[in-house]
Amino acid sequence: MKVLGIETSCDETGVAIYDSEKGLIANTLFTQIPIHAKYGGIVPELASRDHIRKILPLIHETLDQAKIPLSNIDGIAYTSGPGLVGALLVGAAIGRSLALALNIPAIAVHHMEAHLLATFLEDNPPQFPFVALLVSGGHTQLVHVEALGKYHLLGESLDDAAGEAFDKVAKVLGLPYPGGAALSKLAQQGNRSRFRFPRPMIDRPNCDFSFSGLKTHAVNIFRKNDGDQQTRADIAYAFQDAIVDTLCIKCLRALKQTQLTQIVLAGGVSANQMLRLKLQEAAKNDGLNVYYPRLEFCTDNGAMIAYTGYRYLQLGICDQDLAINVHPRWPLSSLTHHIKHL
Ligand code: KG4
Ligand code: ZN
Repeated sequence: MKVLGIETSCDETGVAIYDSEKGLIANTLFTQIPIHAKYGGIVPELASRDHIRKILPLIHETLDQAKIPLSNIDGIAYTSGPGLVGALLVGAAIGRSLALALNIPAIAVHHMEAHLLATFLEDNPPQFPFVALLVSGGHTQLVHVEALGKYHLLGESLDDAAGEAFDKVAKVLGLPYPGGAALSKLAQQGNRSRFRFPRPMIDRPNCDFSFSGLKTHAVNIFRKNDGDQQTRADIAYAFQDAIVDTLCIKCLRALKQTQLTQIVLAGGVSANQMLRLKLQEAAKNDGLNVYYPRLEFCTDNGAMIAYTGYRYLQLGICDQDLAINVHPRWPLSSLTHHIKHL
């Protein structure tokens, strides 16, 4: 079975083909970051328009890369939510229409589910059940992953997502959008002992997060000090250290609570080297295992959509009607309904 995956939920147009026998056989991506960078954040209308411009050329490029004609595709997976409504509609309309024209099944994919399954594209993937830390620009969630499609929310951010906090602090420090990776790079030159930022909500016995106060703290420290390069690097270090530490503490708590031993990192912020390193260190002492996707599959991509679609299509689960539906807000835990016939 060959599944074509289409991702257009935000600011990356991603297309890929997953083959049930050979694995991932093609993967292409067009990033809109330069388009949005000059506005300091995503402009939804520009995102939709650019997805329209790029999606068909990318599908052609992906088929060329896989060296197969469109008629060899057996199923189409497209991101149906959560995300920007206009951007989602582009991928859903193309995916649904292509499936109808080719008379093959289509499947609506949940973007965050695809993030947490991206690690299955690597060698030695985890086994169900496990805990997943989903950390992206829009989400920070700890999820008990019982099985495919069975997700229980253990905790989430009550305000800003971790990626959003990284981006906002990065902006104040004068770094280009999206600032997560740039802030992390700047932090390497930071003095480790100059500032120590608070670890929000660690004294509460749950798995929830709050990053908005930490972000404001970073901004206040920046305003109180000279904005020289060293101070900016010191703030970047202290901010990253506080976020990473908080995420690690709550990951270990979620593992303890569920008595599970595997943790999967997923979403854009899982590209953060400090987070990977610190969690691995903490896990080693407790005999726990940490899994994460390769860097290019941490941020948005078509490969994770193609793979997630494949997992469902292989079980005979697909869209039941021809409606082009998108879900800009779509809780992961409601997915059990989506596959109740599993
Ligand atoms: O998953 P993703 O590509 O898009 C969403 O679904 O939101 O995540 C993007 C987020 C951005 O906030 C970006 O700053 C952050 O991931 N990010 C990072 C790093 N690389 C990307 N944050 C911290 N450290 C990084 N190395
Ligand atoms: Zn994402």
